[in-house]
Amino acid sequence: MTILNPNYIYMNKTFKENVAVAFNEHIQAIDTLENLKILYPHAQVVQGQKNSVLYPGFINTHVHLEFSANKTTLQYGAFMPWLDSVIENREDLVAKCDNNMMTQACESMMASGITTFGAISSFGTELEVCEKTPQKVIFFNELIGSNASTVDMLYGNFLERLDASKQCGNGIIPAIAIHSPYAVHPIVLKHAVEIAKNEKLPISAHFLESQAEREWLENESGDFLAFFQKFFSTSKSVTNIDEFMKSFDDVPTHFIHAVQATQEELTYLANKGHSIAHCPRSNRFLGCGRLAIEELIKLNIPFSIATDGLSSNNSLNIFDELRAALMLHHLEPLEALSTLLIEGITNKPAEIFALNSGKIEVDREADFALVTLPDTPSSLKSIALQTILHVHTVNALYINGEKI
Ligand code: BEZ
Ligand code: FE2
Repeated sequence: MTILNPNYIYMNKTFKENVAVAFNEHIQAIDTLENLKILYPHAQVVQGQKNSVLYPGFINTHVHLEFSANKTTLQYGAFMPWLDSVIENREDLVAKCDNNMMTQACESMMASGITTFGAISSFGTELEVCEKTPQKVIFFNELIGSNASTVDMLYGNFLERLDASKQCGNGIIPAIAIHSPYAVHPIVLKHAVEIAKNEKLPISAHFLESQAEREWLENESGDFLAFFQKFFSTSKSVTNIDEFMKSFDDVPTHFIHAVQATQEELTYLANKGHSIAHCPRSNRFLGCGRLAIEELIKLNIPFSIATDGLSSNNSLNIFDELRAALMLHHLEPLEALSTLLIEGITNKPAEIFALNSGKIEVDREADFALVTLPDTPSSLKSIALQTILHVHTVNALYINGEKI
C-alpha cells in the first residue's frame, strides 16, 4: 500500500487540501494523512513537494503513433495540401518510424502525465510498442477504403489487425476506427459498426474535420473533387453527412474533430449519445477552423481533448494542447474553461470509453499524474488554470499503482 500526500487533489472538478490517497493497484481510501496512517500503518508514505497537485492519470483519446517520424515534412496551413503531402510522404514516414521512435512518442506522452491513450492504427505496426509501454492503450484499428474494387481486401486486412489486437493481453483494449465519411465505403462501415455493437468495442471516426470534406459530402465539389478524380478516378462521394451519421445510431461513437459540423448535426450527435474529440492544435495547423466548444457545452455533448498525431502537431505533450485550447477559445471564461479542459483529459474520456480510471475515487485504478506548481496558487479555483499555464512535465506518474 502507498499513501500519497500532495498539497492538492483534483476531485469532482475542484481541488481539495489536506487529503491524501491510499492505493495499491486501485484506490483504497481518500482521507486525511493522519487517518490513512492509522488505517494502513505499514503503508509507504510519499510526500508531495510544496505546491504539488495530484490529478488522475491523463487520457489522450486520439493519436497516430505510426506517423511519429513527421517533424518538418508535411505541409501545414490548409487541409488539402496537407493530405496531398501525407499521400506523397506516407511510405517514407511510416518506414522511418521504427519501434524506437514510437517508444519515444509514448515516453513523451508519459512525461506530460498521459497514462492512457487511444492509438489510431492504420497498419498495425505500433502494436508491439503499445503492448510494451506501461500505459493503457485503446487500440483503434482503422478501417479505410472507399473504392468498391479494393474494399473487400482492405476490410479483410482490417479484420486481421483487429484480431491481432484482440490476442494481446492486459493493457490493450481492442477498438475500431472508421477513417472518415469520405474514405470508407458504407457497406464495410456497416459491418464494422455491427462488430463494435455486438462485441462492445470502442469506436471512433474522423468526422467533418475540414471545409473541403463538408463540400465534398454535400455537393461532390471543392478540393476533394480533384483529389478523388486524381487518385480514384471518380467524381462521386460514397456517402453523405446524414447517411454517415445515421450509420452510428446504435453505437455511441467518439467523433474526431467535428469542426465543420452544424448546430443541427451536433444536436443529432448529442441526441444519439455520441461524443467528440477536440484536437485544437491539429485543427489550427491544418487550417480546419475552430470547433465551437460553446455549442458542445450548450448541448451537453461529452468531449475529450486530444493531441492527434505528430503528423498534424508539434508535440504529444498534453499540457501544450491545453494551452493551445485556452488561447483558441478566447471568449470562454478562463478558469471555467481550464476545468473543462482538465475534465476533457480525465473524467470525460473515462466516461466515454467506460474506463475505470480518470477520477480520483475509491475503487478506481490508481493512475495518477503528480505535478508541481511554481508557487502557491492564490485560490483553489485557479489551480486548473495555473496548472495549464505552468506545467510542462509531471514529477511522478503512477499506472495501476506503480510508479513509472
Ligand atoms: C480511400 O482509401 O478511399 C481514401 C483514402 C484517403 C483519402 C481519401 C480516400
Ligand atoms: Fe486523426
